[in-house]
Amino acid sequence: MNSIFNQSKKLNLPIILNDTKVILEDLIKENKPNLILEIGAAIGYSASVMLNACDTAKLITLEKNVERFKICKENLARVAGVRAEVINCDAMEFIENTNLKFDFIFIDGPKGQYLNYIKKLESKLSKNAIVMCDNIYFHGMVNGKTPVTKGVRTMIRNLKKFNEYMLNNKNFETQILEKGDGILIAKYTG
Ligand SMILES: C[S@@+](CC[C@H](N)C(=O)[O-])C[C@H]1O[C@@H](n2cnc3c(N)ncnc32)[C@H](O)[C@@H]1O
Repeated sequence: MNSIFNQSKKLNLPIILNDTKVILEDLIKENKPNLILEIGAAIGYSASVMLNACDTAKLITLEKNVERFKICKENLARVAGVRAEVINCDAMEFIENTNLKFDFIFIDGPKGQYLNYIKKLESKLSKNAIVMCDNIYFHGMVNGKTPVTKGVRTMIRNLKKFNEYMLNNKNFETQILEKGDGILIAKYTG
């Protein structure tokens, strides 16, 4: 886990903040999911955190960038063996085609797509599944703490829509934590 952290820092990859890591770890320990889906693997740091927190869990992680995918595959094979499956794809392609049911989903991929992802994933959640999403305040631009910069306007609008959708969806018990870069945690009760 530490080596993947160091490697990610060396490559200047945007991995989860320490606050986020602690919350992710605690949620996995508490819920002991059988099957985890992660959207946005980078080179496997957050995946290794989750696999380390529950040694019976299996994880599928999706990464679009081929170089990151290759490193991630090597890293997770080393730290988790067959418990980890790394797939090089656009996340939506996988989501639309899988028939699996997930007990825990960590969404840390393209921020503008969170709403599209959750709409498709709702039917692929097991009862009481947990969904955790990172960066839902996106450097303070979603909650009005920082001005929205040019070039990310659509993404910020989409993140706001996603947060509202989750808070108003009766199939989820949703809470937003003012930690890290904003973390959304939802329990699927539908
Ligand atoms: C914030 S990084 C993930 C960091 C990782 N979760 C961690 O903390 O170690 C987001 C990753 O999502 C990947 N990504 C972006 N768009 C994607 C897509 N459409 N499908 C799958 N992965 C995507 C990026 O290449 C990037 O590596």
